[in-house]
Amino acid sequence: MTTISIIGAGNMAAAIGTRAAKHGHTVELMSRDAGKARALAEQIGNGATAGTFGARPAGDIVIVAVRHAAAVDVVTHYGDALTGTILVDITNPFKTDASGLATSQGNSVAQQIAAVAPEGAHVVKAFNTIFGGVIAEDGPLDAFFAGEDADAKARVAAFLESLGMRPRDAGGLELTHALEWAGFLLVGLADNGAGFDAALALS
Ligand SMILES: NC(=O)c1ccc[n+]([C@@H]2O[C@H](COP(=O)([O-])OP(=O)(O)OC[C@H]3O[C@@H](n4cnc5c(N)ncnc54)[C@H](OP(=O)(O)O)[C@@H]3O)[C@@H](O)[C@H]2O)c1
Repeated sequence: MTTISIIGAGNMAAAIGTRAAKHGHTVELMSRDAGKARALAEQIGNGATAGTFGARPAGDIVIVAVRHAAAVDVVTHYGDALTGTILVDITNPFKTDASGLATSQGNSVAQQIAAVAPEGAHVVKAFNTIFGGVIAEDGPLDAFFAGEDADAKARVAAFLESLGMRPRDAGGLELTHALEWAGFLLVGLADNGAGFDAALALS
């Protein structure tokens, strides 16, 4: 088991953090609002801690669980503190009017993060195709992910597997934009009858 750092203290931080702690990982929460990080660490329990926003994370898998428009700024703010880490981008960059994505092919949030990430940090997109509430249910799930670095992807796949999920490798960073559309597809399906307890699966 390993230490997982999560930047953010919202719904996804709670869902992923709770599941990770339940499956034996040590969870560190880091939020711009230190009180929220402390409260979530307490809620998660199982030895979860609150770290300092902007400081070197305790874990080398760092989940960037902030809204999409803030992700690049947050990674830039951390700067060299993220050297050598695996940055897990979970964002869904939906336009505010729900008409599509705010990103374009070749310029996904994961690719934007990779462009500002420090030397030796590797970006993997994951979790964005699963609703937080479904993650929290702790059932078996297909977890689609994509990224460039083979070792980083292997570490993320092992982490997903440790949570009782089936890691489904979609390819390199160029596939991260497709994963963003997959997140949009999921919401469309949920809105049009499947419901928000639905999950995408590969058979
Ligand atoms: N909810 C889902 O089911 C779901 C599913 C898949 C993917 N996602 C993606 O997961 C990410 C997090 O979603 P969520 O549902 O957890 O959202 P949320 O509950 O609104 O939490 C967002 C977190 O981001 C932080 N944040 C926002 N702007 C920030 C900034 N400029 N600097 C630092 N921190 C900032 C917030 O901090 P404050 O509390 O201080 O504002 C909060 O901790 C989003 O990108 C979303 O697209 C969500």
